[in-house]
Amino acid sequence: MIGRLNHVAIVVPDLSAAAALYRDMLGATVSAAQNLPDHGVTTIFVELPNTKIELLHPLGDDSAIQGFLDKNPSGGVHHLCYEVTNIITARDQLVSGGARILGSGEPRTGAHGKPVLFLHPKDFCGTLIELEEA
Ligand code: CO
Repeated sequence: MIGRLNHVAIVVPDLSAAAALYRDMLGATVSAAQNLPDHGVTTIFVELPNTKIELLHPLGDDSAIQGFLDKNPSGGVHHLCYEVTNIITARDQLVSGGARILGSGEPRTGAHGKPVLFLHPKDFCGTLIELEEA
């Protein structure tokens, strides 16, 4: 069902410092910051030859990732994003297998303008998984 690893997301306490680290020290191509108010995050994407790194920082007062940053003040790996060809088919198959979808269970528009869903980390080896239709 799952295809390519679309990105690995890292929550960071200082977005511009993290972008500079990847751009200047690691020599990667780094996007401009993008605010996603619906998701309560600001994102920067680091382009790698085989995948992307999503740098995440809380946006707004009730961001879902604020608690993560409170527990991990220097930042940390937050989720993995796998591509699927049809997100509804993937969701229905996962739910019938007993997996839990976070939130309403309906796909939302993610950082790339494509539908995304998040799967409960307790069902997947303690790892938050994002599925993106690609
Ligand atoms: Co993501």
